[in-house]
Amino acid sequence: MKKASMSLQAIKFSATPEVSLSILNQLQIPYQSKYINIDSIAPISGLTTFSGYEAIKGMYTRGAPAIMLVGCFSIVIELNRVLHGGIDSAQYFKYDLNDAGSFKRRLLERIDQLIKSRPTAVNLANGCQKIKKIVVSHESSDLELLYTRILQFSEDLYKEDYQSNINIGEHGLQYIKDVLKKENFKGPFSVMTICNTGSLATSGYGTALGIIRHLHQYLSKDKSTDDFYFEHAYPCETRPYNQGSRLTAYELQYEKIPFTLITDNMPSFLIDSLNRKEQHTNQGSLASLASTAPIRFIIVGSDRIVKNGDLANKIGTFQLSLLSKLYDEIKFIGAAPTPTIDYSTKSGEDIKIEERPKDELTMVLGAKMNGNMFAEDKESKDVVLERVRMAPLEIDVWNPSFDVTPHQNIDCIVTEKEYLVKDSSGEFHL
Ligand code: MRU
Repeated sequence: MKKASMSLQAIKFSATPEVSLSILNQLQIPYQSKYINIDSIAPISGLTTFSGYEAIKGMYTRGAPAIMLVGCFSIVIELNRVLHGGIDSAQYFKYDLNDAGSFKRRLLERIDQLIKSRPTAVNLANGCQKIKKIVVSHESSDLELLYTRILQFSEDLYKEDYQSNINIGEHGLQYIKDVLKKENFKGPFSVMTICNTGSLATSGYGTALGIIRHLHQYLSKDKSTDDFYFEHAYPCETRPYNQGSRLTAYELQYEKIPFTLITDNMPSFLIDSLNRKEQHTNQGSLASLASTAPIRFIIVGSDRIVKNGDLANKIGTFQLSLLSKLYDEIKFIGAAPTPTIDYSTKSGEDIKIEERPKDELTMVLGAKMNGNMFAEDKESKDVVLERVRMAPLEIDVWNPSFDVTPHQNIDCIVTEKEYLVKDSSGEFHL
């Protein structure tokens, strides 16, 4: 099993000798690789902390599985501080060490606050609800035991997420091979993706990007035992936060996976150029492409998949699914571990879509950067992030962070358990 490389490790948690949690500051990728410590669940007035809530809401860490893991570990961190940091710590955080009932109520209140940091990705809420269950069902007054249980749960969740990603890679690869075999496809093919769904968005390896890593590892030209092979990936830039250009391009380059970055308004021209090259009138546009292999799969991650298979993911995902419907040969794949599935919501209409600040659209966040620096080279350098205005002041702006792709537009949902296609009446059975 290929392990996540250290420099792409979004979350570092240790229970011994010291209990500590640090996250890669993803706002600074690809300019600089710096870890920041998290020491509480949510801000406390009068106390200097950097909390899980702030890290998640401020996008220092992002991606559905990653925010779930950071959220859960931040609960462990605060509990450790409160239980082992002396009486002052407990008082600052307003926990009563002498009354288990009151202690648990305070903890549940803090977890509820954490869940509100980002509403669309269900993983965070799912992980937190499971910890709340541990708290509520803990009948003993032994708070040390409660701490150990939550620690164990969070560590297991982290390990499970990594294994899930590998399994998603395997099932995704299998689906792609099955489709291409059935269609008797021969030669090279490309894939398209959006946002960042890789090591940085998870415990390591990735979901949609995990499938692309698997394609590169097992189905590239020199590895494929079939008549077809994976040749190229097209990540979309993913405005307004640029997770595609900042993070996915960084990961693909790091993994040496052949790719070409495109902006979010290029997919239709690109697909038409590649998939209908014989009829394509503008041959000049093809000449400068690194690969002319047709796009056969659009592979996306997910923040929430509901009971009927509708899928919330980064804004822009829905339009990619619409585009895939215009081309019979393109299959649209949603990849996610089962903590992303929200069985309690029937359809995408009921998913709460997070709206983010206006200045994410009117300003661009970046840094002056010389050369191409990877994590190891960059630890010591300090990069200053700058916001540059790109639109007039005081204009109306709409900034939904996610959209919903209806299940009708999805060909396959890949989880760590299996790959799922629709039945003959067009329904997914999740
Ligand atoms: O706003 P972000 O960067 O947290 O959005 C992330 C996405 O939309 C990802 O595609 C999704 O969380 C899946 S990550 C494996």
